[in-house]
Amino acid sequence: MPATSMEELVSLCKRRGFIFQGSEIYGGLQGFYDYGPLGVELKNNIKAAWWRSNVYERDDMEGLDASIIMHRQVLRHSGHEATFSDPMVDNKKTNKRYRLDHLVKDQKADVVAKVAEGIGADAGNFPAVIAALNANPAQASEALRAAGVRDPFSGEVGEWTEPKPFNMMFKTTIGPVADDDSYGYLRPETAQGIFTNFKNVVDSTSRRLPFGIAQIGKAFRNEITPRNFIFRVRELEQMEIEFFCAPGTDEEWHQHWLDKRLAWWEAQGVPRSKIEILDVPKEDLAHYSKRTYDLMYDYPTLGHEEIEGIANRSDYDLGSHTKNQADLGLVAKVDENLDSIAKLTIPHPDTNKPVVPFVIEPSAGVDRALLAVLSEAFTKETLDNGNERIVLKLKPHLAPIKVAVIPLARNKPELVDLARRIKSELQGLGLGRILLEDSGNIGKAYRRHDEVGTPYCVTVDFDTVGKGEDAALTDTVTVRDRDTLAQERVKIADLSAHLQGKLR
Ligand code: GAP
Repeated sequence: MPATSMEELVSLCKRRGFIFQGSEIYGGLQGFYDYGPLGVELKNNIKAAWWRSNVYERDDMEGLDASIIMHRQVLRHSGHEATFSDPMVDNKKTNKRYRLDHLVKDQKADVVAKVAEGIGADAGNFPAVIAALNANPAQASEALRAAGVRDPFSGEVGEWTEPKPFNMMFKTTIGPVADDDSYGYLRPETAQGIFTNFKNVVDSTSRRLPFGIAQIGKAFRNEITPRNFIFRVRELEQMEIEFFCAPGTDEEWHQHWLDKRLAWWEAQGVPRSKIEILDVPKEDLAHYSKRTYDLMYDYPTLGHEEIEGIANRSDYDLGSHTKNQADLGLVAKVDENLDSIAKLTIPHPDTNKPVVPFVIEPSAGVDRALLAVLSEAFTKETLDNGNERIVLKLKPHLAPIKVAVIPLARNKPELVDLARRIKSELQGLGLGRILLEDSGNIGKAYRRHDEVGTPYCVTVDFDTVGKGEDAALTDTVTVRDRDTLAQERVKIADLSAHLQGKLR
């Protein structure tokens, strides 16, 4: 049974060291989180699984790690300077700011209906209500006030300003001079680093269409209302592919990537039955998109929310950067057939003429992936003895700790030394993190490792070192299975092969 509420996950993450509030000792910084000892392992394992599946297991993909701070021209000509914004309103009474759609969505149904009536929109079509508020800013503030829209901070009806767009990009100065030419942006998506390196990758790898470039990295969005734990943050991590293909083959590739990505989520323990596919309505598409499928995972407490977007970005980005480069005189002027463009084109596979390729972009958030994986793995069970246990039934390849090696008593050097040697040998297998757990209380150790999802615990006891009651058990250890709770005695000499077989 997966987690039923976000609170359960937040509590587990804090208690067991997965995730902490950023800058916590100074009161915390909203929208920023730090990944603790187990969080960093889980995050790395999710990213490694994504990279393995999308780069190593394919023959048509290259990897990239581009810089986070980008030239302002890049974000200008990608369209982000003009359009990467959300509508914001202020409450003049409390000086609190809200994202308009979040503010309205969180009101009671009768208040939303009154807002819709006040702005002349259909209450059953929420995006249309927000669009109408944005299109008529002068009437919007009165519609919000008259409908009795309350400020979530004070609980009182607010005195709302007109909605205005708030650009979500973080701007930063570069170098010691702070004039108009010395600023850049922290990238709001990793994608632009792929587009600006398109030609570098093509030239250095001799790739031909179709092929993709994959990247995992941080992106930054100055969200007006970061919320819901790590679901909506200001510093996020993305796993993105830009898959380049000949115009006309884009729809087929779009379907290919939709199928591939759903299969990948399933392999991480996020079942198909928990994901709805939203064919994003035309009026809600991003400025670059011809068509987008949003994968909407059923998060506890939140309901269906986007975990990944799979967009057909057409030739928008490479086309725009190509045109801009020409306008700036950086490459030869564009002619009708793009023949003279040296940059950002590639030979068409059929005609060999230069073409700006179409792009299919599967873009998943690492933080949202981690939340979904945790939510699916979270299980509460009642044991035969009536006790309750919390266990994270993570797929073994995602588990932060693969095996915990536990000496039965922490003050017996012969047990601890042998456990350390076993840990060291298992670590050498390259399975991931193996932990020496010498806290000294076997019951607590099992509970802790159930809660953090360790698939196997190996216990070194007095029988193992020939000081127990059963001489036949000398040189054997107990291997405990997280999910079945079955315990079996395994010879130390066979342990590596035994665990390798189970964990690979
Ligand atoms: N390059 C395309 C792009 O960035 P997006 O739908 O804005 O598209 C892609 O973002 C994914 O990044 C989302 O599906 C989500 O998983 C993640 N994401 C976006 N904004 C986020 C935020 N503020 N906090 C956490 N994850 C976020």
